[in-house]
Amino acid sequence: MKRTVISLTIALIAIAAQAKTLIAYYSYTNNVHDIVSELTSQIEADVVRIEPAEKGLDYAANYYELGSALISAIRNNPDDAKSYPAIDPVDVNLADYDTIIIGAPLWWSNMAAPLQTFLFENGAAMAGKNIGLIVSSASSGISGVESDAKRLIPDGNFLSPSLWIRSSQTSNAATMIESWLKTIGYDAISDTENIRIEQNNEKKYTVFSISGAMMAKNVLSLQNLDKGIYIVNRKKLYVK
Ligand SMILES: Cc1cc2nc3c(=O)[nH]c(=O)nc-3n(C[C@H](O)[C@H](O)[C@H](O)COP(=O)(O)O)c2cc1C
Repeated sequence: MKRTVISLTIALIAIAAQAKTLIAYYSYTNNVHDIVSELTSQIEADVVRIEPAEKGLDYAANYYELGSALISAIRNNPDDAKSYPAIDPVDVNLADYDTIIIGAPLWWSNMAAPLQTFLFENGAAMAGKNIGLIVSSASSGISGVESDAKRLIPDGNFLSPSLWIRSSQTSNAATMIESWLKTIGYDAISDTENIRIEQNNEKKYTVFSISGAMMAKNVLSLQNLDKGIYIVNRKKLYVK
């Protein structure tokens, strides 16, 4: 078995590709937007900004009355799609990404409602992916936002810790982001491609990236390898 793993390592090193990162965020008063701008100067990533379908709403008027009502609706019925405010269609294929960084404003101790809509609709498609969470709040602690993210992406591989940036720290976020990326080991993560292996009829193996692209056919025999997930030279191997 040891020999199999070693030869497999060699085969996969040759075919592994660079992992891809998506940043998905919502921002009402542009603090998270500014944080994401800084983040994209430090890492390579695609970016999607979530936008509510209904335009021109003032979520902060009357001591956050509307924002508060939206959060209450979700809190009361988190499993009902009708509890979540409509958002504009998002043109993104999540299967293309290994890591997703969520940029979230905090509303009443929870994740801002429009971003919750995006995750309610897409969280299941983020299963097995690395999930990083950056939260912006005026002063409140972020554990409620972390709970929302875990509820909405139940099978995400959450990178710990999350990064909390207070509104007043937005313009100085560069060093906080830099040290957070080091703490979560971002360089190693973004260097990793998840590989899936399937056995075909001839008992040889076809290797796919987690995004579904076929990377090699009939590579070698894994007869002695038990079913499971293997990490070999930072490559995750799923043997079915
Ligand atoms: C509806 C609403 C509710 C909020 N509730 C809180 C709160 O409970 N605690 C807090 O510290 N900040 C609260 N804030 C402030 C935001 O978390 C903070 O301004 C954040 O930086 C906004 O990010 P953004 O500019 O990307 O929208 C709230 C903001 C809004 C709009």
